Amino acid sequence: MIQLKVNGAARQYDDDPEMPLLWYLRDELQLTGSKFGCGMGLCGACTVHINGEASRSCLTPMSAAAGKEVTTIEGLSENGTHPVQRAWEQIQVPQCGYCQSGQIMQAVALLKKKPRPTDQDIEEAMSGNICRCGTYQRIRQAIKIAANQKAGAKA
Ligand code: FES
Ligand code: FES
Repeated sequence: MIQLKVNGAARQYDDDPEMPLLWYLRDELQLTGSKFGCGMGLCGACTVHINGEASRSCLTPMSAAAGKEVTTIEGLSENGTHPVQRAWEQIQVPQCGYCQSGQIMQAVALLKKKPRPTDQDIEEAMSGNICRCGTYQRIRQAIKIAANQKAGAKA
């Protein structure tokens, strides 16, 4: 029996321990914000937080999620009000949207570690998140807006 927390709620899982966390989130919990892109850790569409770290849920077997706290895009904030989500909305980052929950989860993890990221920090942190629509410039801009808003809120 695997026990874990998903978006703050205690969950139990008693099936194949090798099943990817992404399947569990999407098919069993109906948390479909995390997307399947490549299934090989190459695109970032499936990114969630595991104990606060950005993680590829397509590559994470359920056994590795045991005892962990998982946060998906659905658990990031109530009503999409996280500063990163607001910044995304402010400059309308998404095009088709498919990659964007992964992009946001990756960006939130970056800003937690580096509240004032440099261009290089952003480049490095976001390089594994692919956007087939090419929204990279707006993603970088939104991360900077979110960083400035957070800095302003603390001042
Ligand atoms: S679906 Fe997980 S990295 Fe592409
Ligand atoms: S917005 Fe379409 S894949 Fe990124």
